[in-house]
This record gives sequence, structure tokens and C-alpha cells, in this order.
Amino acid sequence: MSATPGAATFDAPAEAYDRHIGRYSGELARALVAAAGVRPGSRALDVGCGPGALTAELVALLGAAQVAAVDPSPPFVDACRRRLPGVHAVIAPAEQLPFADASFDHALAQLVVNFMTDPPAGIGELRRVTRAGGTVAAAVWDYAGEMTLLRRFWDAAVALDASAAGLDEGRSMPFCDPAELADLWTATGLADVRVDAVVVTAAYQGFEDLWQPLERGVAPSGAYVISLAPERRAALKEELRTRLGVGAEPFRLTARAWLAAGRVA
Ligand SMILES: C[S@@+](CC[C@H](N)C(=O)[O-])C[C@H]1O[C@@H](n2cnc3c(N)ncnc32)[C@H](O)[C@@H]1O
Repeated sequence: MSATPGAATFDAPAEAYDRHIGRYSGELARALVAAAGVRPGSRALDVGCGPGALTAELVALLGAAQVAAVDPSPPFVDACRRRLPGVHAVIAPAEQLPFADASFDHALAQLVVNFMTDPPAGIGELRRVTRAGGTVAAAVWDYAGEMTLLRRFWDAAVALDASAAGLDEGRSMPFCDPAELADLWTATGLADVRVDAVVVTAAYQGFEDLWQPLERGVAPSGAYVISLAPERRAALKEELRTRLGVGAEPFRLTARAWLAAGRVA
């Protein structure tokens, strides 16, 4: 399985990510923690932690000493360490977790499975480091459907540039529908597999507040924006604004994600 080109787009400033996809991460993290059944007194790993939104939720529940986090992006791991002192945060990919077997009660991955170089190997690693009876859980966006920001973004991009269809995350991302996720969890040997939908929201001060983080090049959507010449970038900006039907006033967007969870037998 080849690497998803999008993974490299997260070697970016944490603050840029916070203002783009990270806006949704805290609410999504609370839903994922609940889906995974994380309880006080347990030990948890956040795989693909980014700047640490899910890690922060785990720290609030378990305490920093009971939480570890990994991500291949050096600036994100650095931000996670700065924001959450005491968390054992290291640079590593899901496919090669630097932990012994059965080290955790829960291994979680939020918005990461589709960026893994080898998702079956990555989920296999989450299972390996989780004790019997513990849970492996992940969240992925409904890119093809109701992740409003990214759906409108790629629809706008493809409307202006047919060649962007190959970059559309609704088409290019693996493991982003409930059946595929359930199959991955089951094939990894996990039991009591569940995939549920959750809808989270993000608040924007106005359209500029949504657009500016895209100009920082973070995530596949941002990387596409900064690949465009100025006049094509301006056209995409206007097309996206029109499709979202928003202007200078504050607004909110909803985003649906799938939450997959299973028990280590
Ligand atoms: C959309 S961000 C999600 C960050 C964070 N979990 C959150 O919810 O805000 C995707 C993350 O996956 C990380 N990533 C990419 N490839 C990975 C891999 N093979 N293993 C683990 N994480 C990976 C990226 O560096 C990035 O931090």
C-alpha cells in the first residue's frame, strides 16, 4: 500500500492546523473518548496526536502521566509536548509504535487512519499495544458526505479545475465509510466492533476566518490552495464562499465523522 501524499501536509505550524481542521478536534475528541469507553484510572495512547486536542481530553480524564502520544510530524509533537507537559509524546508513525505489547488500556486515533501509510498495519499496531479487554478506536471524517467544510471545498475546487478530482478527499481517502471501517476493525481481530456517526460543529467569525488558515498550506486542502496561482486561488476562494453561502458575519458549520471502536479479545 502506498503512502497517502496528504500525510506530508501536516509537517506544518500547529497554530495553522488549530485554525483549520483543529477547530473541530476538541468536540470530536470528547465523542471519541466516550465511544472508546475511556474511564478514569486507565492508561491511553493517542496515535497521530497532531498538536494534541485528543491528548488534552485524555489528560483531563486520566492525568498526564497516564497518557502517551505519537505523531510523525515534528512540529505537531513539539506543540503537543509544550501544551501538555508530562505527556510522553514522541515522533513515530502508527505503523511502528515504540511501545511494548499490551502497554495501554485504550489506543485511539483521531482523523488519522486515512493518512496512514498502511492502515491495516497501523490498526494492527494499535491492537498490539492494547491489553486484552481494552479498546482500539478511531474517528474519520465523512469526506464524501457531510463534512461540510471539506465537501464544499473539494466541490468548489473540482468545479473550477477538473484535475482536482484526484485530490478530492471524498474520493481519494481510504477507510472513510462505515462498512470499510468495520471490515478493517474485524480483519484486525477486534471484537464487538461498532461504527457510529457523530456530528460536531465549528464556529467562524466570518468567511475570512475560514479562508485564512487554508493559505497556510496545512492538510491536503491547504496544500491545494497554496499550489494555485493567485488568480486561480482568488477564484476558488469566491467559489467556496458562494457554495457555503456565508459572508462577513459569524457562522457555524457541522461535520459528520464515523467513530469505529472494537475490543481486544
Ligand atoms: C487531520 S490530522 C489529526 C490530528 C489530531 N489527531 C486531531 O484530531 O486534531 C492527521 C494527523 O495524522 C498524522 N499522521 C500522518 N501519517 C501518520 C501515520 N502514518 N501514523 C500516525 N499519524 C500520522 C499527521 O501528522 C497529523 O498529525
